[in-house]
Amino acid sequence: MASSLSVDFSYSSYSSTSRLLPFQWQKTLTLTRRRSATVRPPPRSSFACSPVAMSANTSAKIIDGKLIAKQIREEIAGEVASMKNEIGIVPGLAVILVGSRKDSQTYVRNKKKACEAVGIMSYEVNLPGDSTEEEVLKHISGFNSDPSVHGILVQLPLPRHMNEENILNSISIEKDVDGFHPLNIGRLAMQGRDPLFIPCTPKGCMELLHRYGVEIKGKRAVVIGRSNIVGMPAALLLQRENAAISMVHSYTKNPEEITRQADIVISAVGVANLVRGSWLKPGAVVIDVGINPINDAEDPRGYRLVGDVCYEEACEVASAVTPVPGGVGPMTIAMLLSNTLSSAKRIHKVE
Ligand SMILES: NC(=O)c1ccc[n+]([C@@H]2O[C@H](COP(=O)([O-])OP(=O)(O)OC[C@H]3O[C@@H](n4cnc5c(N)ncnc54)[C@H](OP(=O)(O)O)[C@@H]3O)[C@@H](O)[C@H]2O)c1
Repeated sequence: MASSLSVDFSYSSYSSTSRLLPFQWQKTLTLTRRRSATVRPPPRSSFACSPVAMSANTSAKIIDGKLIAKQIREEIAGEVASMKNEIGIVPGLAVILVGSRKDSQTYVRNKKKACEAVGIMSYEVNLPGDSTEEEVLKHISGFNSDPSVHGILVQLPLPRHMNEENILNSISIEKDVDGFHPLNIGRLAMQGRDPLFIPCTPKGCMELLHRYGVEIKGKRAVVIGRSNIVGMPAALLLQRENAAISMVHSYTKNPEEITRQADIVISAVGVANLVRGSWLKPGAVVIDVGINPINDAEDPRGYRLVGDVCYEEACEVASAVTPVPGGVGPMTIAMLLSNTLSSAKRIHKVE
């Protein structure tokens, strides 16, 4: 297997939490897109990787997002405790949930648990699905001026009668821990400007590349998918670190050929096993953001989750690959905690 990238897998020695702070290092179901991480119902016919590939010759290194996310949560817990001891401030995250979607309720519950585990205070507002936009705006305004709240997120999707853009724009840029405010995204896109927050999922992808010592500068990177919450900011982040970027989307005519040129592939599409082994350059590093349910009679739930990338085939061609589940997913929530902590540090001028 050829290796086109210098990859240092001694990530476990990499423990500086300062790496997590927005743009101190250059530089995730939140835009942690709560919506984006929605698990759609399994398709009627599930696409499977080739039988040959199912033999799972795992020559690629597995990028263990679960392990890294745990390490990051421990680092954050340490910093939260010091902050409390030294200046008596506890970082706070406010989450607004409108409606009773089960998946959204689960995401909000998970965020609350994750906050509690690291010592971050969580504040929750649950509004009925027929609430008015004004009611949501009123809560955001209250959190904007509440000094105990350092991060605000609105769980997406919102009910159809609400204007998502108005609502997201009303979050103070200083508390926009999802990084979806147009000013934060705009700054991400501009040279010489730094956003206050980076969207959690792409930030998690970059953190995995950094912690695994993947060289980015001067490399060719392909991002598949161009959503506001994952693909687009992921491409901007790679570009900021001096990779040469190509973006592949649903109108791209030759996605396989373009992707095969990449040293680094980030896929955020939402199509099970779209990216086959034949799409990958030998030695490429593959970050699979996709979360797709496919039918599986052997699983008690009747389905299992797979990524956008045919994992077994990627393991034979790539030098490193993220699994699904256990790759990018756990990083998203860890990055939300990281953004909340860095917000509290910025507001209270903690070095
Ligand atoms: N792990 C996590 O924490 C996490 C977080 C967020 C999302 N996700 C997962 O990531 C995936 C993407 O989420 P998203 O919110 O970014 O999705 P999205 O908003 O639906 O965007 C999908 C993107 O993929 C492109 N696309 C669709 N079909 C394609 C094809 N056949 N070939 C190439 N590009 C294609 C679309 O192109 P067009 O722009 O041309 O339509 C679009 O840009 C989903 O599976 C989601 O569940 C996971």
